Amino acid sequence: MASQKWEQHTMSETFPIFGIDLGTTNSAIARVDDRNHIEVLPNQEGDRLTPSAVLFEGESLYVGNVAAEASGHEGGDVVRDVKRFIGDEHWLWEHNDIFYTPSDIHAIILKKLAQDAEQYTSIPVKDAVISVPAYFNDLQRKATLEAASLAGIRVHRLINEPTAAALAYGYDLPDEDGLQLVVDLGGGTFDVTLLQKNGTTLDIIASNGHARLGGKDWDDRLIHYFSVDFVTHYGVDPLDDPIAYQQLQQRTRSTKHALSRRNKSFLSLSHAGFQHQLQIDRETFESLGKPLLDQCKALCDLVLEDANTSWAALQNVFLVGGATRMPSIQAWITNAWGKPGISTVNPDEAVVKGAALEAARIANTQHNPTPHAQAEPSPYRLKGSVQARDITNHTLGIVVLDSLGRSFVDTLLPRHTSLPASTQHVYYTAYDNQVSVTIQLVEGESKLPEECVEIGSCEITGLPPRPAGQRVELHLGYDLNGALSVELYDTGSNTSQRVDLQRGSHRTATETQWMKRQLQSVRVQ
Ligand SMILES: Nc1ncnc2c1ncn2[C@@H]1O[C@H](COP(=O)(O)OP(=O)(O)OP(=O)(O)O)[C@@H](O)[C@H]1O
Ligand SMILES: [Mg+2]
Repeated sequence: MASQKWEQHTMSETFPIFGIDLGTTNSAIARVDDRNHIEVLPNQEGDRLTPSAVLFEGESLYVGNVAAEASGHEGGDVVRDVKRFIGDEHWLWEHNDIFYTPSDIHAIILKKLAQDAEQYTSIPVKDAVISVPAYFNDLQRKATLEAASLAGIRVHRLINEPTAAALAYGYDLPDEDGLQLVVDLGGGTFDVTLLQKNGTTLDIIASNGHARLGGKDWDDRLIHYFSVDFVTHYGVDPLDDPIAYQQLQQRTRSTKHALSRRNKSFLSLSHAGFQHQLQIDRETFESLGKPLLDQCKALCDLVLEDANTSWAALQNVFLVGGATRMPSIQAWITNAWGKPGISTVNPDEAVVKGAALEAARIANTQHNPTPHAQAEPSPYRLKGSVQARDITNHTLGIVVLDSLGRSFVDTLLPRHTSLPASTQHVYYTAYDNQVSVTIQLVEGESKLPEECVEIGSCEITGLPPRPAGQRVELHLGYDLNGALSVELYDTGSNTSQRVDLQRGSHRTATETQWMKRQLQSVRVQ
């Protein structure tokens, strides 16, 4: 039945590409339908947001609410907030003697989104645009691409989350040209991005953020506050017990949400035979979160400084991400900008809607490859379709030695370079008969290697033995996804080698294939 429906769809919709927001707390999938409406697709439970939590139970995997709300002993087998660890090769989750990387967990979440969307639309989800925080580095971007590949999804573009949100607003407010600031505070990440909208183009001018600054950090401060009070009263720490901790995490989130609407709320927990209830007022909560808010403000000021502009010059300030519902965030924007931030597009859905718009734009381009081609009627012709031009968000560098043999970072591509980007740099071999070159690439704004993030290293071997001072060229390119490729060209021997950066999970191709089959064979519920 499903395949019959699919055939019907292929007649009218040649390129079904979906937009996916793979969030720390919640994920979502959307598409632009035949009537040019952006449709956020409900999951099997009827919800437009799917909590990014996975419950492992025997051979079964559950994603979404059922995992996020699992309590008691079940809670021990729930994995949440994995996006905070994506790209971290040391983070592994063990279940039934299988070790899952953050990419594997994301692949499981993607499978659930794809399965449910497929059931709703009767269209297989094989192609997607996936959003990532603008501040994700190369490792995190490639780990996201790996997750999609494990889930059997072809990624046409990784789009930066604030860029996607700006596209959604561009669709909603097509005539609003000028400087736009997107302030995106989600569950795990903070992104602030300045864009210039001019008719149908959207140029990203500057961006900054933090991959570990989000609503969860406000939760953690409240959890800590409660646990200190519990210890003071009863001498036992609920955080030492994983089940109590997990219960506290869930309750804290509800308390935090209540404090967005009320001036006071309560947090209670029964642990080790003690029942404790603590009243929390908004003022206390805001003072706990003040250092986090200050971090958001500082990052935002950096973006405006980078672009040599000010709050007064901003045409629009868009609030994106569930955590921008906190009154302290809204008050900050109102004070700084002089007007309340705009949240006419649901802050939980702006990113996925923008990803769907980008998906539709790409599908449309594939349908009509050149602007001068005889325009065929396309299911994806959009009103006010906007093209976003993204930038790199980190300076890319290589670790080299100075004349005294000390390591320092030589800049290859400065941050805020427009994508796609490529560059070439010339280096010389350091000693006679040097037959190998070590390449260590880093992202960061410092000249000190230890202050940057290493995104890969490799040793190129097999150079012919020659005197020192041989010229080698390093060719680098960022594609539209912000993912990096590197090639070393040895001018003397006229040979080039593609640099295979060691990264990620260090899995062999066979192990990756095994995991792919493993994930294909399980039904995610
Ligand atoms: N009413 C509210 N008051 C305060 N915080 C809220 C409210 N509603 C949602 N949040 C918080 O918003 C966060 C989730 O937001 P969102 O779904 O945008 O994040 P995400 O997209 O999953 O994360 P990220 O973009 O960081 O990867 C959670 O920390 C949640 O507690
Ligand atoms: Mg988000």
